[in-house]
Amino acid sequence: MNAPDSRPTFERSTDLFPTDFVWGVATSAFQIEGAAREDGKGESIWDRFCRVPGAIADGSTGEVACDHVHRLDEDLDLVAALGVNAYRFSLAWPRVQPGGRGAWNARGLAFYDRLVDGLLERGVQPYLTLNHWDLPAELQDTGGWASRDTVGRFVDYAVGVADRLGDRVSAIATHNEPWVMAMLGHETGEFAPGVRNRRTAMQVAHHLLLSHGLALQALRARGCRAPLGIVLNLAPVVPASGSDEDAAAARLEDGRLVRWYMDPLFGHGYPADVRAHLGADTPHVHDGDLAAIAAPMDFLGVNYYSRNVVGAAPGPDRVRAGAEFTEMGWEVYPAGLTDLLLRLQRDYPVPPLVITENGAAFRDEVVDGRVHDAARVAYLERHIGALADALALGVPVSGYMVWSLIDNFEWTRGYAKRFGLIHVDYATQRRTLKDSGRWYRDFLARQRSRARPA
Ligand code: FCB
Repeated sequence: MNAPDSRPTFERSTDLFPTDFVWGVATSAFQIEGAAREDGKGESIWDRFCRVPGAIADGSTGEVACDHVHRLDEDLDLVAALGVNAYRFSLAWPRVQPGGRGAWNARGLAFYDRLVDGLLERGVQPYLTLNHWDLPAELQDTGGWASRDTVGRFVDYAVGVADRLGDRVSAIATHNEPWVMAMLGHETGEFAPGVRNRRTAMQVAHHLLLSHGLALQALRARGCRAPLGIVLNLAPVVPASGSDEDAAAARLEDGRLVRWYMDPLFGHGYPADVRAHLGADTPHVHDGDLAAIAAPMDFLGVNYYSRNVVGAAPGPDRVRAGAEFTEMGWEVYPAGLTDLLLRLQRDYPVPPLVITENGAAFRDEVVDGRVHDAARVAYLERHIGALADALALGVPVSGYMVWSLIDNFEWTRGYAKRFGLIHVDYATQRRTLKDSGRWYRDFLARQRSRARPA
């Protein structure tokens, strides 16, 4: 008879992960690369946006960031030392095609060649994202994502990148979080390019989805064999109270955040309730657009940080009383990941799901060469546990990536918010592995030892 398993629940539940599960860490180009004006790189809308007074909380920019372009080998060694089998990164479009159309920048392409080859040499699968928000500024001058012309520019860019790197990467995601680019970039204007117009925002969302679908078709037609997908920021949306008004507000928010993207990607078109709500702000859709958007995907990337609690009127809610919050002000709510994944599987014919981002910002300090970020360790452990719960219930999840490998430029919050498994001292660019990085490394080592035949 077997002795009862006395290991903690977390250890037991993570036995569930298949031995070929993809464990990774994630970054994005603008947030870490720096070298903003070197080697022929063009300007991006985020380079520009950082110069708008007041746009970035600490007045910082991406000019230097983590100086990753100059420290590529050191950083790839850090990736490898964690023992991950995948690294998710993005290409800066203006680094490889400075104006967003026409000429390619050989030095920019050479950098990503080195990045991809460096990962492969270290036994790490490259997960490439084409667009993590840093649109070439020249394309913004001709209308940016609000212009249908940008759709064609993106498809050309996708094809050019796939021709160069597609044979060596394990996955290509078209866009990272179209909701953020559309709504924060064009409705609230908090993010680049800083437009405040709901009609424009909805047209941008449509163009992002359309360009995703057309890019998938074009890459497949070119014979690109890398698995193709998109990355969405998704969350369960929970009413702030039991009132009918709050339930209706939450339902609408679910429509705007989740269904507005998931429904058309899976062939259902745009949700009727949200269209009715938008009225004249509903985007203009050409014949054939919806069919293009629904191009079959090989994987769906899901970024999960927290749930959304929504009420009809702003104000405190009782739902989150006593909850723990991260430095971003985001509630720590691991069960939301399980709920979300079950819901996606229930409502859509999903391809394999990859958690392409999950992580937390906390106030970290280096003390005697160590960063004791126990709260981040707990966050990761609980979310990986929640993921194991979803797997146990049959949700097809094939990978999980921590946001982020390294502290970096957190958009409008600047460098003050630290999400890394590795701490960066921005004065010296010194990298220090945090306790969370050690914890993830040791967890992955245990996963690997399980994978080895006894
Ligand atoms: C996501 C972004 C990523 C990072 C995390 C904290 O919305 O994709 O770049 O900023 O949030």
